[in-house]
Amino acid sequence: MAKQWSLADRIGKFFTWLMMTLVFIMMALAGKLGLSRQTLRFMTSQMQSPQIKQRAFKGYRPARHDVFVCTYAKSGTYWTLQIAHQIANRGKGEFGHIHDVVPWPEAPMPNIIKLSDEALHRASPTGLRVIKTHLESDYVPYSPEAKYIVVVRDPKDVFVSSYFFSQGMISGPMVPVEEWLKLFLFGKFQYGSWAEHLAGYWLWRKRDNVLFLTFEELKADHASGVRRIAAFMGVALTDEEFARVVEQSQFQYMKRMDEKFTPQRPFPFNRRVTGFAVMRKGARGGSSELLSPEQQAAIDRRMKEELERYGCDFPYAQMFEGVSTAPTTAA
Ligand code: A3P
Repeated sequence: MAKQWSLADRIGKFFTWLMMTLVFIMMALAGKLGLSRQTLRFMTSQMQSPQIKQRAFKGYRPARHDVFVCTYAKSGTYWTLQIAHQIANRGKGEFGHIHDVVPWPEAPMPNIIKLSDEALHRASPTGLRVIKTHLESDYVPYSPEAKYIVVVRDPKDVFVSSYFFSQGMISGPMVPVEEWLKLFLFGKFQYGSWAEHLAGYWLWRKRDNVLFLTFEELKADHASGVRRIAAFMGVALTDEEFARVVEQSQFQYMKRMDEKFTPQRPFPFNRRVTGFAVMRKGARGGSSELLSPEQQAAIDRRMKEELERYGCDFPYAQMFEGVSTAPTTAA
């Protein structure tokens, strides 16, 4: 069903776009003007605005053709999008940029394909299209008709990935690790609370139309992950199609086309943010590249406390607890 935009929605959307344009201008200048801290704070206020979050899916009723990929940022979102998009297109999902083919409703960039655009799933050989969201489950419309793939990653690795990502985005000196860590631990983080995000989707995990995965299990056995996702999406791939999906979602393959996944600025020109890679290392358990054992343990402690506070029985100790000291290598 196409989204109906009221005048208030349009005005709201325009102001969101204006704000984000300002954010991107600030990010481009942050390093040069020494405003990294202020820029990051401003980005957080925009990305965590309840109004913006509420507006993202307002009035949208998910349908059979929708496959949602729901992740906390830096958890393997593009990896999962690539797998799901290629499955939906039987290994032939061509695109110039991933957001030409995957809507991301909470993001204000005007060049992202709209949720209401029906062309994509009409042209898709399986009739499916993929939607990206980082929003907490409370902001995502649920329907038994649609499918939801939830991917969770060790928060220590999420933290490290986010640090390098934000450093690249602001094209300048990043705030110290200790400061970024304090924000992550005490709820003022750019991407919101990791534990709250997980706790919300954990409640959905037993639904037939929800597939709950971890980055770590995808990493441990990528081909099995692709097989599970295809089965969940109800797509029977031929051996050749399956092999193509696996190949195209391998780290090195995706790294070679990194520009198709890097964020785009909301301008009609000079859209590409350059100078860093989204496909950075693609490793698991390598948070020692940035964090001391004490800092890693602090993340474990805090996330367990937070999950408990949200009444979430996700088995954190079994899945993610533990510090690493070994250096990581690229995947
Ligand atoms: P690192 O920064 O640790 O390398 P998101 O897509 O949610 O922003 O997550 C980005 C993280 O996923 C990055 O982690 C990136 O390298 C990793 N990633 C992306 N594609 C991957 C792939 N095919 N295999 C393994 N990791 C991948």
